[in-house]
Amino acid sequence: MPKAVQTMISSKLAQKLQEQVGHELGAHQQYLAIGTYFAQQNLDKWAALFYQQAAEEKEHAMKIVRFLTDVGEVVHFPAIPAASTGFKSAADAVAQALKWERTVTEQFQTMAKIALAEGDYVGFQFLQWFLEEQVEEVSSMEKYLALVESGINLFQAEALLEVEA
Ligand SMILES: [Fe+2]
Ligand SMILES: [Fe+2]
Repeated sequence: MPKAVQTMISSKLAQKLQEQVGHELGAHQQYLAIGTYFAQQNLDKWAALFYQQAAEEKEHAMKIVRFLTDVGEVVHFPAIPAASTGFKSAADAVAQALKWERTVTEQFQTMAKIALAEGDYVGFQFLQWFLEEQVEEVSSMEKYLALVESGINLFQAEALLEVEA
């Protein structure tokens, strides 16, 4: 039997982070779908906003991949769920994005609990950036949902979006 490789983080946390790579890449694809939903309606700035969000999710996945590699874990890429562009409405699309962001926040909170329970301070430290990021992600998605639900014309609302189209 080969000697087990000693890694720097708890194996329980490593398992969860491994799964999170899939969740982040799933979010990447879901945001591509939302961006495309808007692009199909010529709402190019809304599309750009969600494509930019998609790029951030891929960056989140890679941040975890780099960390797992740095601490000596083997990384595998899981299958990611299909993402349809068939949303009922713009509000439906943005509401789903907000729901995912809330779910991801819970996933990181669960990982932080595991890290503390395992006395894994390296892992706990790594998770701080994501916990902070999720506060921002949930907050900005709440604002976009409020904007869409305000009933404003979505073409006019593009002037209020902070993104390069
Ligand atoms: Fe993310
Ligand atoms: Fe996100």
